[in-house]
Amino acid sequence: MVFKENLTSKCLQKESLKILNKLKKKKILEIGCGDGNISNFLIKNQNKNSHSFYLSDISKKAVDSAKKKIKNKKVTFKVGGWLDPWLNQKYKFDIIISDVSSINDTVANLSPWYKGVVCDSGENGLQNIINIIDKLDYISKKGSIFILPFISLCNTQKLDNLLTKKFKVKYSEKIIWPLPPFFEKNLKLMNKLKNKNNIFFTKNFNFYTAYTRVAICKIN
Ligand SMILES: C[S@@+](CC[C@H](N)C(=O)[O-])C[C@H]1O[C@@H](n2cnc3c(N)ncnc32)[C@H](O)[C@@H]1O
Repeated sequence: MVFKENLTSKCLQKESLKILNKLKKKKILEIGCGDGNISNFLIKNQNKNSHSFYLSDISKKAVDSAKKKIKNKKVTFKVGGWLDPWLNQKYKFDIIISDVSSINDTVANLSPWYKGVVCDSGENGLQNIINIIDKLDYISKKGSIFILPFISLCNTQKLDNLLTKKFKVKYSEKIIWPLPPFFEKNLKLMNKLKNKNNIFFTKNFNFYTAYTRVAICKIN
């Protein structure tokens, strides 16, 4: 199974495009590309057709479906986890978009989103992000921009600390969205995760809601 485009994908598409359209001839890396919907959107909507795109995912099925979706000569595809496929390249990337799984594992495993898709982000939802940030210096340079989703289904305090300690961070506005039925069915467990700060949600009227925003991090 390959992950399907969702609200987070759309937030990443929108915020990344704003940045790309201020730049020319840059190297854009997307990791955790899934079916390639984010880069496909960026390739089609960039106002000058000048950027080069590099995509990878730990799942070969995902990369195969991205290859089918994106028929463009300026795109390089690789299969592999985190930044591993790109560590031995001579070039550095200007923009790094990570949509690698970054929510609490228990929530991911109960959800309809991750059926047949790897999460492995741990109970705080941050294990993949920590791994990526650890190696970011090898593939980026001063002034590169690291773009990632900030979803409230992880330890948001830890994520904010992690990002603001290392980067100059700007957040896009919060988009609040209703959690699907599996969430309420497992409410006792979800409350336990919330009490440990491993996820955050609220109840608005009759709906349990989470939020998504995009973190735009400048690398110094
Ligand atoms: C939330 S989905 C996003 C997919 C796609 N960007 C989209 O918008 O539909 C997360 C993706 O990260 C991939 N993934 C999980 N662990 C990974 C890892 N360690 N390294 C790279 N990709 C990983 C999954 O295979 C999945 O395609």
